[in-house]
Amino acid sequence: MLKRFLHYYKPYRGLLALDLSCAFGLGLADLVFPAAIGRVVDVIVPAGDMPGLARFAVLLVLLYAIRAGLEFVVGYFGHVLGVNIQHDLRRDIYRHLHTLDTRFFDDTKTGQIMSRIVGDLFDLAEISHHLPEDLIMASVRLAGSLIVMLAIEWRLALVVFAIVPALVAFSSTFRGKFRRAFRANKETIAVINERIEESVSGVRVVRAFGNEVFETERFDEGNETFRRSRIESVWHIGVFSTGVSFLSNLGLVIVLIAGGYASLRGAVSLGAYVAFALYVSRFFQPIETLVRSMEQFQEGAAGFRRFLEIVDTVPTIVDAPDAVELAGVRGDVEFRGVGFRYGDGKERVLERVDLRVAAGETVAIVGPSGAGKTTLCSLIPRFYDVEEGSITVDGLDVRKATIASLRQAVGMVQQDVFLFSGSVRDNIGYGRLDADDAAIEAAAKSANALEFIRALPLGFDTPVGERGVKLSGGQKQRIAIARMFLKDPPVLILDEATSSLDTMSELAIRESLERLSKGRTTFIIAHRLATVRHAARILVLTEDGIVEQGRHDDLVAAGGVYRRLYDAQVESLLVS
Ligand SMILES: Nc1ncnc2c1ncn2[C@@H]1O[C@H](COP(=O)(O)OP(=O)(O)OP(=O)(O)O)[C@@H](O)[C@H]1O
Ligand SMILES: [Mg+2]
Repeated sequence: MLKRFLHYYKPYRGLLALDLSCAFGLGLADLVFPAAIGRVVDVIVPAGDMPGLARFAVLLVLLYAIRAGLEFVVGYFGHVLGVNIQHDLRRDIYRHLHTLDTRFFDDTKTGQIMSRIVGDLFDLAEISHHLPEDLIMASVRLAGSLIVMLAIEWRLALVVFAIVPALVAFSSTFRGKFRRAFRANKETIAVINERIEESVSGVRVVRAFGNEVFETERFDEGNETFRRSRIESVWHIGVFSTGVSFLSNLGLVIVLIAGGYASLRGAVSLGAYVAFALYVSRFFQPIETLVRSMEQFQEGAAGFRRFLEIVDTVPTIVDAPDAVELAGVRGDVEFRGVGFRYGDGKERVLERVDLRVAAGETVAIVGPSGAGKTTLCSLIPRFYDVEEGSITVDGLDVRKATIASLRQAVGMVQQDVFLFSGSVRDNIGYGRLDADDAAIEAAAKSANALEFIRALPLGFDTPVGERGVKLSGGQKQRIAIARMFLKDPPVLILDEATSSLDTMSELAIRESLERLSKGRTTFIIAHRLATVRHAARILVLTEDGIVEQGRHDDLVAAGGVYRRLYDAQVESLLVS
């Protein structure tokens, strides 16, 4: 895992080297002061050397000016390094996200993904440079003060080292605690994000049911779990830092006594004693830092592990090694013995489905809710892969075509239209990113959308908010249809495209859909049989597969499932 993280430093080797060498310099600079005091006390003051003191002062100011420069480099370029790494991590996880199976998004909450891409990576970026900087600085200080201390008075130094094993033993009891605590922090904040995301995007449902209190309580629950988790980790941090400082202060007391005694006996000079005491404080501080780094490392590792969980999720729906481009698609679509279910252990949705649709033909699919109409159609652009059998487009198994070319050839209009933030023009242009304004307007015209778009305050440049809150259902639908005119796919899937509309707009939309489906292989999924009664071929899909097919009149006359669906709808029309 560490190796994979180190990989992210690669492009910034220069920056890292600069940062770390300046951190090294900083560590060294901090070793000078105790020695300087020792010299002032032992040499300059006893000799009454005023000019010497002045020269010494100038030298020290110079040194601290250099130190300030180093500190700036570490502070600035270190953070630049961290920000760059964060950028790259985020780029990689985002790219990977778009390769993942549709199923991943079925099973993962948006808030979870958000908190990994935003929160976790932010922490990781901080740690990515602070940790190596701290390690270098602490090691230099530690090794440096160690050597100097040994040189000044090795017996005194040995007294100091006696405290080190106690420090290390104490710290190592915290490793597991920190790891668990930081993991829990990240998991619980993700739950909070998840709740926010859901209740904000579902705010209309929340209000319609007056369930604000319920939502608030659910949120409070997650918030409380996070609070407890955080408090537990700050408890560990508190005990840990207190213990470490107490132990190092004990070390200082030991030195005070032992050094004072040695100085009284004349074994060390006063200056050496003072310098030694200062080095001791510089000796324990890096130990504290090193131990704290361990804590940081645990936190970073928790974030990186969660990052890898997504990045290491292997997509199963990918281009085959020998995949070919689907070009000049005519649009023959064939299902052969198709069986499908959403994941192992789940119920089978489709079984032995056989279906041939010739290029340019329009078929309507009807059937009870949950029969698998949407599922059937989402297999064509490989949102999911079939479990048994095969689907072919122009005789080529969809799994043998490149995904990009396959999805280029298949268009889908859903009942629930998603609009991106941007203008109306942007949203229609989403159908073909390189389309010019004329093409976009022509598409809008074909979709019967020109009139209402022109009436908008800024016409085509009117911004539509998140999920297009400012447009009506029918208007969004027409934008989705305009998108499809632009995309111009040979195979078209219209899933319940008109079921949420009133009769007037349904008429306008149905007309544009008819125009759209001309010359394309079209699958129309509809609940209202009125929408499909003129279709040349109607398929009736139930849990047992395609049980009937034919024209409306023939199916009604046959007196099967279709007849029952039809009777039920006629009856409900009469009642209302
Ligand atoms: N993403 C999914 N993950 C797991 N199961 C799913 C998923 N989508 C649908 N299902 C299940 O598959 C079955 C078929 O669903 P599908 O949406 O294809 O039905 P449908 O015929 O389109 O229904 P409707 O007419 O209500 O739109 C249902 O039992 C449903 O619970
Ligand atoms: Mg459906």
